[in-house]
Amino acid sequence: MYKKIKGTEDIYGKDMKYWYYIEKIARETARLYGYSEIRTPIFEQTELFVRSVGKDTDIVQKEMYTFEDKGGRSITLRPEGTAPTIRAFVENSMVVTGLPKRLFYIGPMFRYERPQLGRQRQFHQFGIELIGSSSPMADIETIIIADKFIKNLGLVDYKIIINSLGCERDRKKYREALKEYYGNILDKVCDDCKKRYNTNVLRLLDCKVDVEYAKNAPKIIDYLCENCKNHYEKTKEILKELDIKFEENPRLVRGLDYYNGIIFEIHHGKLGAQSAVGGGGRYDKLVKELGGPDTPSLGFAVGIERLIIALKNENIPVEDFKNNEIFVAHLGEKAKLVALEISEELRENGISVVFNTMERGLSSQLKHASRLKCKLCIIVGENELERDVVILRNLETGDQVEIERDFIVGTAKEWLEES
Ligand code: HAM
Repeated sequence: MYKKIKGTEDIYGKDMKYWYYIEKIARETARLYGYSEIRTPIFEQTELFVRSVGKDTDIVQKEMYTFEDKGGRSITLRPEGTAPTIRAFVENSMVVTGLPKRLFYIGPMFRYERPQLGRQRQFHQFGIELIGSSSPMADIETIIIADKFIKNLGLVDYKIIINSLGCERDRKKYREALKEYYGNILDKVCDDCKKRYNTNVLRLLDCKVDVEYAKNAPKIIDYLCENCKNHYEKTKEILKELDIKFEENPRLVRGLDYYNGIIFEIHHGKLGAQSAVGGGGRYDKLVKELGGPDTPSLGFAVGIERLIIALKNENIPVEDFKNNEIFVAHLGEKAKLVALEISEELRENGISVVFNTMERGLSSQLKHASRLKCKLCIIVGENELERDVVILRNLETGDQVEIERDFIVGTAKEWLEES
C-alpha cells in the first residue's frame, strides 16, 4: 500500500466544509476590496525564489523542493505566492492596465519543514497583493482586509502584530547596531544564531531560543528615518481611529528578505507553537528586482490549515453544504427508469440526490442511504407504480407515506424544507 508523503494531507469528508467556508469568505473579501484572482503555476524557476525570498533565508537554504527537470532546468515548487504573482505581473506587463493592481490567490505552497500541528510540507495560502502604491493608505487598507477576513470567519481570539523595518538605509544602520550588540554576546547565543549573525542578523530577533537577548537588543524604531517613521505613525494613527486592534512588536521580523517598511503578522491564541495564521507587509523593491518598473507594493497571506485549526479550537459552527439530501431507491426493472426521471426532476429543483446505481435489494439500498446521512428516501417500486404512487420516507424519523408520482418532487421539497 502506498502512503502519502510526510507533511502532506488528504483533504476530504468532514473537513471539506471548512475549506469551502474559508475559500468562500476569502473570495468574497477579495471581491469586496476590488481584487481579482490570479492562478500561477505551482513551480517556477528556482532563481525566482532565491532572488526574491533571499538566498540566506531558511526557506531558500533549507526548505525548498528543488529539482532538475528533464531539460536540465532548476525548478522549485513554490514556497510562497508573492514572488510568482510579481513575476506574472512583470511578465504579463500588467502595469498597462493601471496601478495599483490588486491580485489575490488561493493555492498550495511547499516547504520542507519539520511537520507538526499547523506545519506541513504542502500547505495552502490565501494571499493578496496590492501592487503600485507607496501611500500609508495602502498599508492601512491591507491590514483592514486581513482583519476583516479573520473577523468574517468568526474568529475572535487573534492579534495583529505590527512593526516597521524601515527603508534600506535604515536597515543598514540597524543591522550595524545589531551586529555590535550581538557581537559582544556571540559566544552565548545558539548555533543557528551564530550562523545567522553573518548572513541575516535581523533573524536573531525572532530566535525561539535566545528570547532574552532579543528583548534587550536595539529597536528598529530608533533607526527609522523621518519618512519611514511618518509612514509608520500615520498608519498606526488611522488604524487606531478606525478601531482596528493591533499591537506593536519591535522585534517582529519576517522570514522573507523582500520586506521593507511596515510588516505585520496575525497570531491566534489557540494554536500553540505555530500561532501565526498570517503575515505580510511591504516589499517596495521586489517588482524592480524581478525586472519590472519601480513599483512599491505590499500584501499578506494566511495559512488555510492553521485557520481551520483556529476555527475548530474556537468552536465556530461551520455549516455543512447540502449534500446527499435524498436517496432514490428502486425495486424491479420497470422502476429504474421512473426512479432516474424523479432523480433528475429533483436535481432540476436544486436538490442533491443520490440515485441507486447498484443492483441491490431494498434493505441494502436503505442501509447505504442511512450511511450517507440522507434525510429522505424515495422508494420507487414496481408494485406501487401500478397504482401510480411512490414511497417517501423520512430517514431520520422513519415516517413514510405513499405519494402520487406527479406530486413526489413537490412533496419531497416541502419535507426537506420542514426538516
Ligand atoms: P509567510 O509568513 O511565510 O508569508 O506565510 C504566511 C502564512 O502561511 C503563515 O502565517 C502560515 O499561516 C502559513 N504557513 C507558512 N508556512 C506553513 C507551513 N509549513 N505549514 C502550514 N502553514 C504555513 C508569506 O508566505 C508571504 N508570501 C506573505 C506575503 C504576501 N507577504 C506579502 N504578500
